[in-house]
Amino acid sequence: MHYGGDYNPEQWPEDVWPEDIERMREAGVTMVSLGIFAWSRIQPAEGVFDFDWLDRIIGLLHEGGIAVDLATATASPPPWVSATYPEVLPQDENGATYWPGSRQAFAPTSPVYRSLAAALVTRLAERYAQHPAVVMWHVNNEYGCHLNLDYSDAAQGAFRLWLENRYGGIDALNEAWGTFFWSQRYGSFAEVFPPRKAPYSHNPGQLLDYRRFTSDALLECYLMEKEIIRAARATQPVTTNFMGAFKPADYWRWAAEMDVITDDCYPDPNDPESFRASAFARDLMRSLKPDVPWLLMEQSSNALNWRPTNAPKAPGQMAALSMQAVARGADGILFFQWRQSRAGAEKFHSAMLPHAGTDTRTWREVTGLGAELAALPELPRGSRDAQVAIVFDWENWWAIENPDHPVALDYLALVQRWHAAVHRKHTQVDLVRASADLSGYRLVIAPQLYLLPEDGAANLRDFALAGGHLLVTAFSDLVDEHDRFREGGFLTQLGPLLGVRVEDFGALVSPGADAPGQAIAPFTGPFGEVTGTLLAEEIHVETATVLGSFAGGRLDGRPAFTQRAVGDGRAYYLATIPDAAGTASVAGHLLAEAGIAPVVGGLPERGLPETVEAIRRGDVVTVINHGAESAEFALAGTDLQSGETVASVTLAPFEYRLIRES
Ligand code: GLA
Repeated sequence: MHYGGDYNPEQWPEDVWPEDIERMREAGVTMVSLGIFAWSRIQPAEGVFDFDWLDRIIGLLHEGGIAVDLATATASPPPWVSATYPEVLPQDENGATYWPGSRQAFAPTSPVYRSLAAALVTRLAERYAQHPAVVMWHVNNEYGCHLNLDYSDAAQGAFRLWLENRYGGIDALNEAWGTFFWSQRYGSFAEVFPPRKAPYSHNPGQLLDYRRFTSDALLECYLMEKEIIRAARATQPVTTNFMGAFKPADYWRWAAEMDVITDDCYPDPNDPESFRASAFARDLMRSLKPDVPWLLMEQSSNALNWRPTNAPKAPGQMAALSMQAVARGADGILFFQWRQSRAGAEKFHSAMLPHAGTDTRTWREVTGLGAELAALPELPRGSRDAQVAIVFDWENWWAIENPDHPVALDYLALVQRWHAAVHRKHTQVDLVRASADLSGYRLVIAPQLYLLPEDGAANLRDFALAGGHLLVTAFSDLVDEHDRFREGGFLTQLGPLLGVRVEDFGALVSPGADAPGQAIAPFTGPFGEVTGTLLAEEIHVETATVLGSFAGGRLDGRPAFTQRAVGDGRAYYLATIPDAAGTASVAGHLLAEAGIAPVVGGLPERGLPETVEAIRRGDVVTVINHGAESAEFALAGTDLQSGETVASVTLAPFEYRLIRES
C-alpha cells in the first residue's frame, strides 16, 4: 500500500529537506511523486542541465526509506522555451495564443515541444533508470488538463497527417464526413483545418475526428516518453495521472499503454452527494485495468483553492474518501501535495504538511491514515466482483455532444445517474465498453449509446442471447463511427433484438408562452412511477412486451418501456430518459429481475441508508458512512483493523470498516 504525495522540493531551501523526510516518516509516507513541475529547475536554459539537486534529494529520500515516483517534468515548459520557440504555444479556436505565465502552455503536437521534452526525458531516464529509489515513472501530468483542445498551426499540420493516415485518400474523408452537404467537399488534405471558429455549425464528422485526433496526439506524447524511458532500460512501471472521466482523452485506449492506472480526484467536500461522483471515478479506474491495482495519485488533505469557494473537508472525510478508493481496488493513497506551498497560485491548497504546522487537524488525520494503511493486511487483487456493468464510451461521448441534435444531452451526467442508482442500492458495478467481455455480468445498462459500432452492437446482442439482461435507452444506435445515420432508419442494429422500431425522438421542451410544449413524460408499471425527461420517443412495438406506457401528453398510451425475452436473456428498451428517481425505480426493477443481490445480502431491507456504501474487493467488504447520521446493520466477519469477529457494524459519520466475510 503506497502512501504519500507530490513532492516539490525545488520550492524550498535545501535545509528544509531533512525535516521533510523526517516528517514523511512520521506520517507513514512510502512514496513521493518527485519533480512534476521542475523542468525550469532541472534545465534552467537550453543545453544547461542541473541534476545535482535532484541527485541529492533522491539520495536523501532513499536513505529515509521513501520510494520515488519520478516525474519526467515535461508538463510545464520553462519560460525560455516559449521565448526561444514561440511556436510551441497553443491557441484557442479564435487563434488567440495561450501565453506563458501559468503552467502547461504547450501544443502537444509541436515538434519543438516534443524534441525538447524528449531531450529532457532522455537525460532523466539515463541518469535514474537504475536508481534503487525510483519505483515508478510519472510521465508529464494530467495530459489535456486546462487546454482540452489546441487549434494551433502545429495542430493543423498534425491533424492533416492524422487524417491522411486514417483515410488514405481525400475521397474516403469526403465520404466519411458527408462533405457534399453545404459544399464542404475537399480537394486535398491541405484544405482541411482544425474546427476553428466558423460562421455556423461545423461538420460533425470533423468535430468527432478532431476529438479522436486530440486524444491520440496526447497519447503520442505519453508513448514518446515511455519509449525513451524503456530505451534507457528502465524496468519500473510507467504511468501518467488520469482525471476520472475526462472528456478529451479516451482512457479505454490509453489504459492499454499504462502499466498501472493512477487517478487524481477532488470531490467537493461541501456537496453531500459528491461521494457518488468519486465512487464513479474509482469504479472507472478499477474497470480500466481490472487485474492491476490502481493508485489514487492525487487528492486533497483538506480544502482546495480552485473552486469559487473552497470548503474544508469535515473531520474524517478525507480518510472515508481514501477508503472509497482502497475498497475499489486502489493500492495507494497519495495527495497533492506533501508540503503546502508558500508562494504561487496554489498556496491556499491544503497539503499533507500544512503551512500552519503539525499541531493541526490535517496533520493528525494525515498521520492517522498513514498508520492505518500501513497496518492493513494485503487486500485481494484483480477480483471481479460486479454482476452489473454500465456502458461508458468516449467516442459516443464526443459524438452525442456534437451540436444540432433534438436536445442537448450531458452524456457523463446521464451515465453517472445510472451508476448512482445502482450505487444507492449497495450493488457493485463496473464500467465497460460495448465491445468488452461481458460474460461475467448478469445486467448490462447501456445509456444513450448514440454512436454504436458494429462490434459493440453484436457483442451486446450476444450478451442478451447468452442469458444476460440488457437495457438499451433512448437515443441509442443511431449513427456509425463517422456520426452518419445508418441505412434503414434508427436502432437498426439492436431493434430486432429489442423488438421495437423508433419512428421519432420527440424532444421534451418546457412549455413556452406561445407554443404549448411538454416538459416531462410520466409512465408507471411494476417498477413504480417514472418521470421521463428530455426525450419521449415515438416507438412501435413489434415483438416486445410493453412494461409501461406514457400517460397524458402527446404520446398518451404509447409504449415507454418494453421488454423482450431473447435466447436465455432479456432485452429492455426505455424510450425516454428518466429523472434520478425514475432511474432508481427502473434500476431497482432490473436488478431484481436479473436476480442481483447487493454487496451485503439484504442490506436495503435492513434499512441501510443510501449514504452508506458497501463495496466488495474479493472477500473483503468495505462499508463507509458518508452521511450525517450513524448507521447500524448486520455484517458478519473479521474486522481487518481490530482483528475482532463481528456480527454487526455501527458507523458514525465518515466511519468505515473493512470486514473479511466469514
Ligand atoms: C491537479 C494537478 C496538481 C494540482 C492539483 C490541485 O490535480 O495535477 O498539480 O494543481 O490539481 O488540486
